[in-house]
Amino acid sequence: MRERFWEMVREAAQDEADAVSLYRRMADAAPCRAIAHSIEDIARDEMQHFNYFESLLCSRQERGRNPRERRRKDTPYGRTLTIPTISDPYPPIQVEGPNPEYARLLLDDYAGMVSEMTAINQYLFHHFDMPEELADAAQLLEEVAIVEMHHMEILAELIKLLGQPPMYMDGQGLFWNATFVPYLPGCPCEQLQSDIHAEQIAIETYRRHMELIDDRYIKEILARIIMDEELHLHLFNEAYEKYCGGHTDR
Ligand SMILES: [Fe+2]
Ligand SMILES: [Fe+2]
Repeated sequence: MRERFWEMVREAAQDEADAVSLYRRMADAAPCRAIAHSIEDIARDEMQHFNYFESLLCSRQERGRNPRERRRKDTPYGRTLTIPTISDPYPPIQVEGPNPEYARLLLDDYAGMVSEMTAINQYLFHHFDMPEELADAAQLLEEVAIVEMHHMEILAELIKLLGQPPMYMDGQGLFWNATFVPYLPGCPCEQLQSDIHAEQIAIETYRRHMELIDDRYIKEILARIIMDEELHLHLFNEAYEKYCGGHTDR
């Protein structure tokens, strides 16, 4: 009887996937934008249903309990960075033991409102949007985003070791969303200000979490991440001074 239920869930997931693909084709063929928008809305709803059925199927699987051995990365994501970086290696990624409370704190750093996830998307957007005269600042933003990806990966590993799946949500279960990014299109100085602000908040939050987390391995890792964030703060301040004619005191 139970097996029949799971077969039905699989069928439902397939039907939803077929519906999404049909509605997308319909939206492309729609005679006007208004109809296309409405059909795209329907497709999005169906996509959520599809995701729900898939998550049911996923929750049924036996999940691997042993995290993969991670390959140490000397150059994050295969890029040789041109910006200054901290030479101290990152401490090994380990925890004293599973702890849902610590996982919740790290989820805030991982994909909360001001988080590594937001920093990556914020710096990338600012990189895309920088005018040509600020090519140096554009490159700085892209490379700092790459370092933030490395931080995000480290946090994902820690959250897994602490016993939680590293989904894109904060410690309260609020999903990350693209409105967390201060876009400020066409305003490079305001963008740099908000990047400086993001690094200041990151440093404060990591320091607070270091006090709240009584696990020596995590403390060491957060201390190493803070060193990167302090360097980013310095680099963003330098760029601001160079292009926007004054040191920020925010
Ligand atoms: Fe970071
Ligand atoms: Fe940073």
